[in-house]
Amino acid sequence: MALTPSPLAYVPFVSVENMMKLVHRVGVETFLKELADRIEDDFRRWPLFDKTPRVAAHSADGVIELMPTSDGETYGFKYVNGHPKNMKDGLQTVTAFGLLASVETGYPVLLSEMTVLTALRTAAMSAMAARHLAPDNARVMAMIGNGAQAEFQALGMKAVCGIDTVRLWDIDRRATDKVVRNLEGSGLTVVACASAEEAMEGAQIVTTCTADKQFATILTDNMVGAGVHLNAVGGDCPGKTELHRDILARSTIFVEYPEQTRIEGEIQQLDPDHPVTELWQVITGDAPGRTGPDQLTLFDSVGFAVEDFSALTYVRDKLEGTDLFDKLDLLADPDDPRDLFGMLQRAAP
Ligand SMILES: NC(=O)c1ccc[n+]([C@@H]2O[C@H](COP(=O)([O-])OP(=O)(O)OC[C@H]3O[C@@H](n4cnc5c(N)ncnc54)[C@H](O)[C@@H]3O)[C@@H](O)[C@H]2O)c1
Repeated sequence: MALTPSPLAYVPFVSVENMMKLVHRVGVETFLKELADRIEDDFRRWPLFDKTPRVAAHSADGVIELMPTSDGETYGFKYVNGHPKNMKDGLQTVTAFGLLASVETGYPVLLSEMTVLTALRTAAMSAMAARHLAPDNARVMAMIGNGAQAEFQALGMKAVCGIDTVRLWDIDRRATDKVVRNLEGSGLTVVACASAEEAMEGAQIVTTCTADKQFATILTDNMVGAGVHLNAVGGDCPGKTELHRDILARSTIFVEYPEQTRIEGEIQQLDPDHPVTELWQVITGDAPGRTGPDQLTLFDSVGFAVEDFSALTYVRDKLEGTDLFDKLDLLADPDDPRDLFGMLQRAAP
């Protein structure tokens, strides 16, 4: 009796090593640009996605979240954590993996690492939002928080929005030095700054990407001038915010999925009916984006399941014709679907 699993039992698995090979094969900036376009395409067909605020399990030190969605044909989810204290112990703040499945059969069709992919998709998402909201000819970006996401964010804004300068600030100088090193030769002018205020001088795009479980005030109202686009990435959990409430009061606020952002985003500091614009409606032309040069726009990013779906389906398509995956014997699929026990019996040593 053959004990070889059926072809459907084997699910393509993208390891961290293969993900990194894929990114290098495509090119980091091309990857970011193509992923931004893929996310935008999916935002354009937003109404057909199954949507729910992610399912979060909180603890004193962090959060573990499940992020499911489906476009009716393909189902996807990401498992992701957020543990700001990890970094001090030499661990990643954010790690993730994700899966795609066929809606028709429920069978998984792809399993992938998503720690690297989340950094890429978050940067692609930030850049896609900035493409619609940042002032025309934005060339200078401030990057507040120089951790794991930082270089991805800077390169995303370069590839998609054409920024040529990034001004860096982090409370830990070693983080800033790391970004300076890593972005050498990227084509960006990289400036290490001595404060958040200094980093924001002359910046048309300001990204905050810090990690703290407590309400933090990374930016206060007096620091933010008119006409800037704020890209607030680090505030993404109940009790975890980065911007002073007064900044929110004078910003035009754009969000991914209001039901989730009101729980997790900067706007958790505001009344539950404070007006916000859903970014997908800007993309479809149903709502205005930036309406003037002095407007303060805020993308209150928390990360939504559709972006991870876009990232996974992008990777699935890019894998075609490559050997950048392993075949994982993930699924029990006996020839006779009712003979699961028989399959086990036949495997007896
Ligand atoms: N919105 C999204 O879609 C999304 C996606 C991924 C990560 N995140 C969030 O982004 C944040 C950053 O993630 P990461 O993986 O880069 O974390 P990280 O721990 O690697 O880096 C965070 C950096 O912020 C710095 N920092 C902390 N407080 C600061 C302050 N007051 N001023 C300046 N710098 C400060 C730290 O020194 C550290 O270098 C996390 O909060 C994470 O949860 C959001």
